[in-house]
Amino acid sequence: MELTAIELTKQYGTKTAVDHLNITLSNGVYGLLGANGAGKTTLMRLLCDIQTPTSGKITLDGKRISEMGEKYRNLLGYLPQHFGYYPDFTPWDFLLYVAALKGLSEKQAKIKAAELLEAVGLTKESRQKIKTFSGGMKQRLGIAQAMLNNPHILILDEPTAGLDPKERVRFRNLISAFSKDRIVILSTHIVSDVEFMAEEIIMMKSGVILHFGKPQEITAEIDGQVWECTVLSSHAEQYTETLNISNLRNTENNCTTLRVIADYPPMENAIQVQPTLEDLYLFYFKGANE
Ligand SMILES: Nc1ncnc2c1ncn2[C@@H]1O[C@H](COP(=O)(O)OP(=O)(O)OP(=O)(O)O)[C@@H](O)[C@H]1O
Ligand SMILES: [Mg+2]
Repeated sequence: MELTAIELTKQYGTKTAVDHLNITLSNGVYGLLGANGAGKTTLMRLLCDIQTPTSGKITLDGKRISEMGEKYRNLLGYLPQHFGYYPDFTPWDFLLYVAALKGLSEKQAKIKAAELLEAVGLTKESRQKIKTFSGGMKQRLGIAQAMLNNPHILILDEPTAGLDPKERVRFRNLISAFSKDRIVILSTHIVSDVEFMAEEIIMMKSGVILHFGKPQEITAEIDGQVWECTVLSSHAEQYTETLNISNLRNTENNCTTLRVIADYPPMENAIQVQPTLEDLYLFYFKGANE
């Protein structure tokens, strides 16, 4: 299937959150990266047909999603960035409730709920009230509810927010197992969350797409512009003002290794290194909010 946005625009008053955006998504895992306010949530809500574009359109295999109605919703799973729970529900009740809204039979719902609770590691807590849950546990329940109807298109807005490292790994495995022959879109502003999970990266800023491609392809833009330099730790601070530094790492003998983005060697002992997605992200978003 192909999900396509054509000249997609969303304005809130004078603010343009998504700006004449064009993209075609086929099966695969897409990592939507961008700073706060870049337009990620707005784009996702438009793709879910929860919000109406100001102009432009979204099609699935050539059909406008706004005209597909229930047919489109049946193909869709969505985790909103701020997900509302019913505090007195248990995860089990909650999933059966969402399954009923999505039109699953009781039998299907029970099978699917048990399977997903297991997949997100909440089987033991499945009869505990949600109000006793930690942020990460709620987040995992949110991920489970989005997958109840076995959606062909899965849209997750900051799914890894609040997950501890172990749960991140579990989530990564869950998504790679699930994503075969499906369209999965995950937003985040944490590069490492998607660097290894997403086949394609969509980098967004101020409502437009800056980069779209495989991680190695898009970092090619700053090939030859990333350097590592070692300086005395006591001098490291002064460089942060003059150089574009993507990372600082303390090394032995009171030294600090700076990772610098620059057109030419920033100092004599600079060693050219392979750019990472994190370098590219910082290149665009350093100090930026949007
Ligand atoms: N309902 C709204 N009314 C007015 N402006 C809005 C509304 N929703 C979003 N915006 C604005 O649109 C822009 C994009 O917001 P959006 O929530 O899509 O960004 P985001 O990339 O998801 O950010 P974050 O990383 O903080 O979740 C921001 O400037 C935001 O202030
Ligand atoms: Mg958002």
